[in-house]
Amino acid sequence: MTENYFYIEPETARELLSQTKGMKASKRGIDSHVYLVGEYAVLTTSRLKLRIVATRDDGLAYLDELIATLMRLHGQGVAVVPILGYCYDPDSENGTGYIFQPRAKGGELYDDAVTKKYRRSKASYYFPSDVDPKEYILSRTSYISQVSQEHFDKFIGDMLVIMEHDILIDSMGKSNFFYDKTVGFQFIDLDSHTDYRYGLAAKYDSKETCAYAGLVPCHYNLDTRAVKKLGRNALQQLARDNGIIFEKCKAAMLRSKIPEEQVNRALETLQVFGR
Ligand SMILES: Nc1ncnc2c1ncn2[C@@H]1O[C@H](COP(=O)(O)OP(=O)(O)O)[C@@H](O)[C@H]1O
Ligand SMILES: [Mg+2]
Repeated sequence: MTENYFYIEPETARELLSQTKGMKASKRGIDSHVYLVGEYAVLTTSRLKLRIVATRDDGLAYLDELIATLMRLHGQGVAVVPILGYCYDPDSENGTGYIFQPRAKGGELYDDAVTKKYRRSKASYYFPSDVDPKEYILSRTSYISQVSQEHFDKFIGDMLVIMEHDILIDSMGKSNFFYDKTVGFQFIDLDSHTDYRYGLAAKYDSKETCAYAGLVPCHYNLDTRAVKKLGRNALQQLARDNGIIFEKCKAAMLRSKIPEEQVNRALETLQVFGR
């Protein structure tokens, strides 16, 4: 194992690893099992050598830069969950190993593992959940709709700063965002977004991207089956709460100087439920 521990003591990391051995994972992602141990999260991965899913970066230079940037932003009060260090098998094909993070505060904005029944794309890799998804979606949307405008302002403001630092936010996954009543929104599952430097992609417009990425995590694109299952009253409640969330997101975007026409275009394109 090659160890690269930037902001965590090697002994602590090794101790965490040994603890995960006898544990059942708390969460599953596409490529990862996640172990929550005390204040830490230990993520397994099999593709540390790949920058954004498919692009090889065997030297892991992208990752070391990402780690440094995340910690710098974190120090400036941007609500990214930093990466403390990693270890991996250098001989493995795509980089099999572990990533160490502080545990995010609060809970997933929405837990995709609970809500998957109600979404258009039904990824099957999540652990089964025994939480009733209908109740969960309704109560969670209601809860998020009551989040303060200040927290929404910080959410959008942070999102812009993160994007401007060449970091990719996966806004399709609602569980890539955490919310805690005291600290507000936090960002996890962040990746290096430097492809443009290698001539592989055009540089994106942060504000334009944020107009979409800031709205996507908060709303539900319900499929027709889900609409039938929810029933009229629940749908009305969902539409009302979604509407409040969009107004707060939109106000936050305008405050962050995202042009109104970009916000409106995003709202039209996304055909958000509840407008
Ligand atoms: N630092 C963390 N704190 C708390 N939970 C985490 C943390 N990192 C990951 N998780 C949990 O594990 C899930 C999968 O992790 P994520 O980094 O999003 O991997 P993937 O790229 O596979 O989606 C997250 O949605 C979240 O529920
Ligand atoms: Mg994720």
